[in-house]
Amino acid sequence: MTVSEGKYFGRKQGKSFQRLSRFQNLLFDPTNAFFQSIIDKTLVLEIGIGDGIKISKDASEDLDKTFIGCDIFIDGVLRAARYQSEHKLKNLFVFHNDIQSLVTHLPINSLDTVRVFFPDPWPKTRQKKRRTFSASLLEQILPAMKPESTLEFATDHGDYFLDALILVSKYGFKTNIKTPDMWQYSVFNAIGTKYEKKALDKNSKLFYFSVRKSN
Ligand SMILES: C[S@@+](CC[C@H](N)C(=O)[O-])C[C@H]1O[C@@H](n2cnc3c(N)ncnc32)[C@H](O)[C@@H]1O
Repeated sequence: MTVSEGKYFGRKQGKSFQRLSRFQNLLFDPTNAFFQSIIDKTLVLEIGIGDGIKISKDASEDLDKTFIGCDIFIDGVLRAARYQSEHKLKNLFVFHNDIQSLVTHLPINSLDTVRVFFPDPWPKTRQKKRRTFSASLLEQILPAMKPESTLEFATDHGDYFLDALILVSKYGFKTNIKTPDMWQYSVFNAIGTKYEKKALDKNSKLFYFSVRKSN
């Protein structure tokens, strides 16, 4: 168990844990030395990998990039670790860590892409401080992002989307979104995660942005 001490509100373990628990030995703690060892790669960081399926698939299909994922929900981390091991992928690393405990190990100017897909919405005003995508996360992660690197965000909560959009503009990210329809679900925006599918099944409105860090 490598999740740092802290207060988390989401699910930490699911029904598949028993089946996947034997893969726990594949997990390791994030360290500065580990991240220094992959600093020359094109790095994609996914925060909150959920069931771990998207990051596994992306890593197997895009061998030129190195995918780093983290989640406090262990089942998805173990599923991705099993996939990495069974497919002998050298470009997939997953951590059973909250992002706050991982980000401190990321080298400056190392990340090419950061992805946050369907983070827990915490819609009530008093819950908003629980949100993963926040000013404090951006402040921590910005130094690790290369100039012109990409930040991708998706949610089915309009309120979270607007708050996130305001945040990225406050922190100087650039966007090429010109019309509101570019925020919406389309074949170009679709990412194929479990929570995207859930939102589509509920006929929810989905929102996406992809922004670039300024120099
Ligand atoms: C609603 S799920 C979305 C999962 C996946 N991205 C998807 O689209 O299907 C949000 C995920 O973020 C994870 N999460 C919440 N807080 C986190 C944190 N501080 N660090 C890493 N992951 C976190 C949760 O455990 C959960 O798996």
